[in-house]
Amino acid sequence: MNDLIVKKDFLLKLIVSAGNMAKDFFYDRDSLKIDKKDHQDFVTKADKEVEIFITNQILSRFPQDEVFGEESQVSPTQEKNIWVVDPIDGTLPFLVGLPNWCVSIALVRNGTPVLGAVFDPNLNELFWGLTGLGSFLNETKITINKKTSLDFGMVGCGHSARSSQTDYLAVVAKILDKGGMIYKSGSGALMICYAATNRLTAYFEMHMNSWDVAAGLVIAKEAGFKVSNFTAGDWLKKGNPLLIAPNKIYNEIYPLIFNKHLVA
Ligand code: IPD
Ligand code: CA
Ligand code: CA
Repeated sequence: MNDLIVKKDFLLKLIVSAGNMAKDFFYDRDSLKIDKKDHQDFVTKADKEVEIFITNQILSRFPQDEVFGEESQVSPTQEKNIWVVDPIDGTLPFLVGLPNWCVSIALVRNGTPVLGAVFDPNLNELFWGLTGLGSFLNETKITINKKTSLDFGMVGCGHSARSSQTDYLAVVAKILDKGGMIYKSGSGALMICYAATNRLTAYFEMHMNSWDVAAGLVIAKEAGFKVSNFTAGDWLKKGNPLLIAPNKIYNEIYPLIFNKHLVA
């Protein structure tokens, strides 16, 4: 645990610096040249430079560790300490001037995310978790509210061009049928943290990448939420579907998402 406490202290400082660096780009976003990656999926110098900053900081402090970041995607050569980085989660809101974006960094040890932080520099909210220690929003411990119900609150429903529109709309329709309401901000990593802090009733997305999820996974699990088996198969490079919710809600939503043709 000792080396994880050292890494946790390092991570919490690093992510705040990275978030503030991203915020400087955000204030100057109109000057950024935008490149398109996919439908509604963009990248700029801000994503790349923030990732380079994070990578350099990690590798100069922990030279044996490796970084797997969204923008570089260098394949790791060991499993003991892989830092999984999304320099800006919510690039689309970032580019259109909405404050719904964050930085997300996790440490994956032998295939399992064990430490994670998500920082929203616009609200100064730092969500973080360490396996065995719990999860926190800034200094306050996060605790699950098991009494939530679908008919009081909103379910975070993430979507991207990587998954079927028909499947997505079918799940959304079923949640509405069950008396639920939906929420989508454009930042999956933040919505996972909102589910983990009971602001959302649940969060689901048919496909997410490891860098969107790894940090939030630790935060949600440590707070006592039920999380679908995201770390299955080649999850680090290929991603998986995701559902996070308190046990009772999880059981209600799970069959709507993980039907026959989706991986559990
Ligand atoms: C995306 C956002 C979005 C989610 C997508 C992600 P990006 O990440 O988190 O909310 O629905 O699955 O790819 O491109 O903004 O880093
Ligand atoms: Ca992302
Ligand atoms: Ca990103």
